Amino acid sequence: MARELTEVGVVGLGTMGAGIAEVLARAGLSVTAVDVDDVAVARGREHLAHSTGRAVQRGKLDPADRDAILERIRFSTSLEDLAHTELVVEAVPERLELKCDIFGRLDKICPPDTILATNTSSLSVTEISVATGRPSKVIGMHFFNPAPVMKLVEVVRTVVTEPSVVEDVEALAARLGKVDVTIGDKAGFIANALLFGYLNHAVSMYENHYASREDIDAAMRLGCGLPMGPLALMDLIGIDTAYEILDTMYKQSRNRLHAPTPIIKQMMTAGLLGRKSGRGFYTYA
Ligand code: CAA
Repeated sequence: MARELTEVGVVGLGTMGAGIAEVLARAGLSVTAVDVDDVAVARGREHLAHSTGRAVQRGKLDPADRDAILERIRFSTSLEDLAHTELVVEAVPERLELKCDIFGRLDKICPPDTILATNTSSLSVTEISVATGRPSKVIGMHFFNPAPVMKLVEVVRTVVTEPSVVEDVEALAARLGKVDVTIGDKAGFIANALLFGYLNHAVSMYENHYASREDIDAAMRLGCGLPMGPLALMDLIGIDTAYEILDTMYKQSRNRLHAPTPIIKQMMTAGLLGRKSGRGFYTYA
């Protein structure tokens, strides 16, 4: 029987972390949300207020329920405040050393049966797990952007993840109203392994001036029925995140499909990170 989790933590309150905190709190869980400093915490708090405020405006959420959701989230700048949690979802930037450092610290802070989950998109969950003294309790729990909307959670098990931990995380995903798919620890898991070759190809088509960004996006929206064109989706994902994912997959597979198109790195260096910075392939108000 799966454990009914009630106290959970989220580390990293960027686009994904804030979205994940919202999903957890909406399902009635009590969430401790941690980021490095007051500025990062304020940005996460603002993201949550904006997202739930929009749902209220659209008549999808009662203002009293919005208040209850926000009250279930406690913010902190200290990992020590996760000492009481039963599960922690880490959603910090895609850098292996950073994630390993956080998992090593969480391992010392959290009780031995706390499940440590990573929202990594492409890094090895196994490598992250061995930064702890409890690799069997480490798992991937990969959400999609925007987390409150997208229905999928990829549950990533390593060769040592305990079956009961997989069961607990699958049960949690169902409680969150998500559909889970389970996969072994392979770069890009299922969705990104298939998606990013396509996104990279679209960027290359744009870089080589074969078509305008609008026409590339319109072709895939109107010709293939996708909700968003590839360049708009790159902006939603974040150009920096997309670069890290492609680079990691390319280094692991050496498949040319995943060799990041040069303009992606150039945009990242120039601070054109997509929606979150106000400009990427498109400009945002
Ligand atoms: N946060 C919360 N809710 C949001 C949101 C956000 N950032 N963006 C949109 N929504 C909600 C809206 O409030 C609206 O909700 P209701 O229907 O309940 O009113 C609903 O989503 C639809 O939004 P809109 O009408 O504004 O716009 P839309 O119909 O164009 O949908 C979209 C927006 C959901 C983003 C849609 O365009 C879409 O599905 N795009 C594709 C997204 C995608 O492919 N994501 C995966 C990226 S890959 C990834 O995440 C993996 C990784 O590791 C990088």
